[in-house]
Amino acid sequence: MLTKEQWRKDYLRHGSEVTVWGEKQYDGIAHAVDCGDLLLIPVCQADWPPMWLETCAAHMAAWRSEARDAYPNDPPHVSVPSVALWLALHYLPLPRLLWMIYPAGDLSEPVGHLGFRLDREKWPVCELDGILGNPAKRGSGLMSSAFRHITDLVQPDTWVVFPKPGNEAAKRFYSRLGFVPDTEGWNRYAGTCERWVWHDPQRDQNGAQRASGALPGLVGDMLEGVWTDHKNGDERCPACWPHYPVKCACGGLVHAEYGDDTDNGYWLAKHCDKCGLDAKEEC
Ligand SMILES: CC(C)(COP(=O)(O)OP(=O)(O)OC[C@H]1O[C@@H](n2cnc3c(N)ncnc32)[C@H](O)[C@@H]1OP(=O)(O)O)[C@@H](O)C(=O)NCCC(=O)NCCS
Ligand SMILES: [Zn+2]
Ligand SMILES: [Zn+2]
Repeated sequence: MLTKEQWRKDYLRHGSEVTVWGEKQYDGIAHAVDCGDLLLIPVCQADWPPMWLETCAAHMAAWRSEARDAYPNDPPHVSVPSVALWLALHYLPLPRLLWMIYPAGDLSEPVGHLGFRLDREKWPVCELDGILGNPAKRGSGLMSSAFRHITDLVQPDTWVVFPKPGNEAAKRFYSRLGFVPDTEGWNRYAGTCERWVWHDPQRDQNGAQRASGALPGLVGDMLEGVWTDHKNGDERCPACWPHYPVKCACGGLVHAEYGDDTDNGYWLAKHCDKCGLDAKEEC
């Protein structure tokens, strides 16, 4: 059982550096958010406490085995080690945040997890991501509450989600939160999933603040520098997949972006900023 005391003890023993995105180092516990009725703890690639990522992987493996229809390929074979590997290789390196959600004052068992990713929509439109409740804790209202808190933290203009047509529980959950089906916007999962959107009711008033393109407050701190375009000629390009860009034979730099889709698995799209070479590679 992961208690707050245990967490802090391990935290102190193992130092305070965790990787949320690529090589950037962040202090995960410092970014835990106390929302009153619940506590949000970021799921981080961490050297400390070793049990944290393992704990997350164990929860996720259990929940994902029960929600195969909603997340069939994430990862394709569900076990604790495969989920841990998938988190490290395919999930955490993306510009995204995922929070484990705990009821206030009780770190024994999370309610679920919820987060967002920035790479497939154009901010301030933002994809809600990792929407998965602990089957033992369904119907508490806490997933809805987590959605509201995360909306306050992230402050997108619009949320986008892609439920499967038959996923009535998820669609009921979204519509209760104010989402509506959207047949106009681009649906990357056309034929497999529906596209649903939520618009900030105050987006006219909040629009000016978002025009800067900056992510707000704590979320901005955690993902600082991540959400920028590729920088031609910059060997430390902030928008590139970890370990990119690499030198091209032409002398330019090959930049890389990661992608996934339900049918075609995982891939890296590569682009040279000098000769224009374009390649897509499965990974
Ligand atoms: C989508 C999902 C996260 C919703 O979780 P949830 O536990 O139903 O969400 P909540 O905690 O907000 O609980 C809401 C339910 O509790 C009830 N409830 C009880 N007290 C409540 C309260 N104070 N506030 C809101 N709802 C409350 C609601 O009536 C609702 O029940 P209903 O769906 O039968 O109408 C969950 O169904 C899930 O994990 N599904 C599998 C994965 C999945 O499909 N993900 C989405 C992929 S697109
Ligand atoms: Zn780049
Ligand atoms: Zn080149």
